[in-house]
Amino acid sequence: MAKVLDDISRTFNEYLLLPNLTDERCIPENVSLRTPLVKFEKGESPKYEANVPMVSAIMQAVSGEEMGIALAREGGVCFIYESQSIESQAEMVRRVKQKKAGFIRSDSNVKSGTPLREVVELVKRTGHSTVMITKDGTATGKFLGLVTDKDYRISRVDLDDPVDKYMVPKKKIICGKSGITLTEANDMIWEHKISCLPILADNGNLEYLVFRKDYENDKNNPLSLLDDNKRYIVGAGINTRDYKERIPALVDAGVDLICMDSSDGFSIWQKNTIDWVRQNYGDSVKIGAGNVVDKDGFNYLADAGADFIKVGVGGGSICITRETKGIGRGQASALMDVVKARDEYFKKNGVYIPICSDGGIVHDYHIILALAMGADFVMMGRYFARFDESPSRKVKRNGSFLKEYWGEGSNRARNWQRYDLGGDKDKLSFEEGVDSYIPYAGPLKDNLTITVNKIKSTMCNCGSITIKEFHKKARLTLVSNISIKEGSAHDVILKEIENN
Ligand code: IMP
Repeated sequence: MAKVLDDISRTFNEYLLLPNLTDERCIPENVSLRTPLVKFEKGESPKYEANVPMVSAIMQAVSGEEMGIALAREGGVCFIYESQSIESQAEMVRRVKQKKAGFIRSDSNVKSGTPLREVVELVKRTGHSTVMITKDGTATGKFLGLVTDKDYRISRVDLDDPVDKYMVPKKKIICGKSGITLTEANDMIWEHKISCLPILADNGNLEYLVFRKDYENDKNNPLSLLDDNKRYIVGAGINTRDYKERIPALVDAGVDLICMDSSDGFSIWQKNTIDWVRQNYGDSVKIGAGNVVDKDGFNYLADAGADFIKVGVGGGSICITRETKGIGRGQASALMDVVKARDEYFKKNGVYIPICSDGGIVHDYHIILALAMGADFVMMGRYFARFDESPSRKVKRNGSFLKEYWGEGSNRARNWQRYDLGGDKDKLSFEEGVDSYIPYAGPLKDNLTITVNKIKSTMCNCGSITIKEFHKKARLTLVSNISIKEGSAHDVILKEIENN
């Protein structure tokens, strides 16, 4: 007979936090949400940490290059989706890495002799009013000059004229030298009252551009997650099929973290993939594994050498795995079981392997509960898909703005590698996810700021100013159905409803 666990499969909604003593340290300004992303030995620090404990799901509707930049800017990590060709995924990673905070590779370039008409079209397409003219028309070609939309008046010019006639030539442009620091570049921008500073290599080739407006941006984003070269940290999903080709392409593009994308990570294929990474890259490539839902799954992937481990099967908002296949576990139960295993593993081996709670976060307070239950960070799809920066379409339905959101196991995404167990290539024989709409929520920054404020506030209520302290001190209670009702507004007539 099958073994039946004693405990019930429980979810976040079934728990509440109890307040602890709030002492004088416990004010939101003092709270740090810095958290480890990869494993580390006792007494050492991890190679990668996030400044907010949130990463974006490995999904077509969530994690493209725009999300990569926006999320890193706020201190989290985006995992670029893997259900696309190796080339296009690597290109997305490359574009995030090229967006070195402050130093940007020019993405609007033409070669000398290009008719002005093409420049005008380029400006319209990209929305960037400054175009670089290089000898070969590439972002790193010999720099000849630049043209902005202030240099030509469309109604008065002959659009067949070569751009050279209107560009400001190099000799009249203030340029920075390769190797200049961001502070020095910004000093030059202010000193010469210019809005864009091209940075040139010794041989006169264009390297980067520094814009005045990005300086303002950086000042507004003190939590930006940057590598040693001031480029944004970015992750990417991989699968256990084409990893021997995909990983080298991603590493070449500059990826910081990779993560296996699978609905069931308790498998020999994940171990084989980690083995291959260690044989070829040693510890220099950081690889996350999962998803698992219990101690056995955690220990297997921990012993296999995973750098972080993801928890969750069947809890995603677009997920129908549980009803399709009858497999999964309530996210709260799964998480707490795995957290226990992580702490035992740390005690026994002196190695701390961060845990990511993946899927099922609907309300901001679910993030707080996941952290209280011991997660080091959370992965979210629905949450991020609602924002301007997700790659999905914004549509208007019945007067409201919505965003499209579809599962990787839906027919729309056809991410067969995530679900396939050895069947035909490119085939997704049944669906494990749906195609849906979610309410549009605006820019990531505005929403994330509110979420972060809520997390900090609750942590203060619970007497904690770091996630580590919160892990130790948090106290949770199970709630009854009736007490859930008590938790939202009740026995009053809400004005909004009355007005409708
Ligand atoms: P959400 O944050 O609740 O929307 O869940 C996102 C998570 O659901 C992802 O990170 C994946 O682990 C998982 N997921 C993505 N696509 C599917 C699917 O089609 N079926 C089941 N789970 C999915």
